Amino acid sequence: MKDNSSFIKRNPILTGLILGGLVVLIFWWLIPEKENTVSIDRSQFTQAFDSAYAADIEESGTIHEFELTADETTLSLVEGIEFEGFAYNNQVPGPIWRIVKGDTIKINFTNELPQETTIHFHGIRVPNAMDGVPGVTQDPIQPGDSFIYEFTPKDAGTYWFHPHVRSSEQVEKGLYGVIIVEDPEEPEYSQDEVWMVDDWRLNRDGTLDTRFNTGHDLMHDGRWGNLITVNGEMEEELIVKPGERIRLRLANVSNGRVYELDFDSLGAQVIAIDGMLTSSAFDANGFELAPGNRIDVDIIIPQDAAGQNFTISDKFILGRANTLGVLKVEGESVSTPNFAPPNNPNIPNWNGAENMEPDKTFDLNAITGMGMMGLAWTLNNKAYPDYDPLTLKEGEFQTIEFNNKTARLHPMHLHGQFFKVLSRNGKAVDEPYFRDTVLVHASETVVVGLVPLDEGEWANHCHILEHAEAGMMSIITVE
Ligand code: C2O
Ligand code: CU
Repeated sequence: MKDNSSFIKRNPILTGLILGGLVVLIFWWLIPEKENTVSIDRSQFTQAFDSAYAADIEESGTIHEFELTADETTLSLVEGIEFEGFAYNNQVPGPIWRIVKGDTIKINFTNELPQETTIHFHGIRVPNAMDGVPGVTQDPIQPGDSFIYEFTPKDAGTYWFHPHVRSSEQVEKGLYGVIIVEDPEEPEYSQDEVWMVDDWRLNRDGTLDTRFNTGHDLMHDGRWGNLITVNGEMEEELIVKPGERIRLRLANVSNGRVYELDFDSLGAQVIAIDGMLTSSAFDANGFELAPGNRIDVDIIIPQDAAGQNFTISDKFILGRANTLGVLKVEGESVSTPNFAPPNNPNIPNWNGAENMEPDKTFDLNAITGMGMMGLAWTLNNKAYPDYDPLTLKEGEFQTIEFNNKTARLHPMHLHGQFFKVLSRNGKAVDEPYFRDTVLVHASETVVVGLVPLDEGEWANHCHILEHAEAGMMSIITVE
C-alpha cells in the first residue's frame, strides 16, 4: 500500500515544491494589493502645490531691449590656434543679461549664420510663441532674417538660452548665453557670478572637430569633448576676499557631458536648482549637473583663507577629476554678509504621489537601421518628428514616468514646466526643489510630478543634443 508518508519519502523534492507553491499562494492571497494599483485622490497634491510658484507675473513696465546677432566668429581655445565657430554678438560665451523680476525683455535677434536657427530660453516660462521650437512655436529663422523675442519671465533665477535648430552643432560651436532674473527680495551677496560650463572636442591641432553627430556620439552619451571651459576659459579664476559670501551660478551648456560637482572644502550650499530656489539649503558636493541643468550655490570664504586656492571640480568619471575653476583668495578680509540662505518655503510635499499609477510613461529607447547614421533615439518607439502625443491639464497635478530601456544617460527636459522627482526605480525620493531637467541614468525609471500652469505646445526631450537631434523628443500639450 502507498500511503502519504512513503510518497513524501520517495519524492522529497516534488513534495517540497508542492508545499512551497502552497505557501506562496497563501501569501499571495494574504498580502494586500500593491499600493500603486490603488487610486489616490490627486486633488491633495494639486492643493499642496498651491503657491509654489506664480501662475502669472505682475509686470513692472520696465523693458530691457537687447540687440543680438548670431554669426560665424573666429574663436581660439588653445593659444595661437584659431577656428571658425558660431557666437552670439561675436563672443563666447554669449551675453549674460540681468533683469529684475517683473521686467520685460525684448531681444532684437538677427541670424547672420549660414544656416537656419531659433532661440530657446531654457527654463523660462515664456508665452508659447516665444519658446523657439521650429515647426512647433515658430518657423526657423532663415539666414539674414530677424525675429523679436519678447517676454516677461515669471520666475526669478538662473536661465540660459541656446538655438533649437541643429543644436548639437550650433551649441557646440559656441551659441549660448545666460539670463539672470533677480528678485530684489533675495539677500545681496558680496559677489554674484555665472559660470557657463562647456566642453569642446578639439582636433590634435587645437581646432574644433567639425564632425557632428558621429555614429560614436549618437551611440554613446552624445559628444563629450576633450577640453572643458568655464566662461570660455580653461581653469577659470575668480578672485575673492576672505569673508566674502559668493553666489555662484553654474550652467551646464555642454552637448552631453555630466559634471559631478566637488567644491573642495568650501562647504558650498545649494540654494537653487534650474533657476528655482530650494526649500532649504543643502550640501552641493556630489550634485550631478546634467546638460541643461543650473545650480546656484552659496559659498562663504573663510576669514583665515587669505592666500589659499579652492578648486571646484568635476568627479563624474571615477578617478578622472576635471578642474572647472579656482577661487583665489586675495586681499583684506571683509565681514561676512549675515543672512539665512534664500529659500522657497512653498515647495510642495508630494510624498505618496509616487504610488499613483503614472499618468503617462515614456520609454526611452533606440532603434537601429533608421535615422541619422542608422540610429534613432526614441520616446515610446517614435523618433521626432514622429511622436507619441501627451495632453496635460492646466492647474492639475499629474505624473510622468521616464523609463530608460538603454544603458545610456538621458537628461530629460520639459519646456515651459517645472517638475519634482517623485521616485527613482520605484523608491520614493524627496528632492527639496523643482527641476526642468532630470538625469535618467542607465536602465533607471524616474517618475516626476507637476502642476502645469502654462498653456501651449511644449517640447519634451533628452538634453544630450545628439540624442535629441536623432529623434528623442516629443511634444506635450498643456490645455
Ligand atoms: Cu535647453 Cu529644448 O532645450
Ligand atoms: Cu538621451
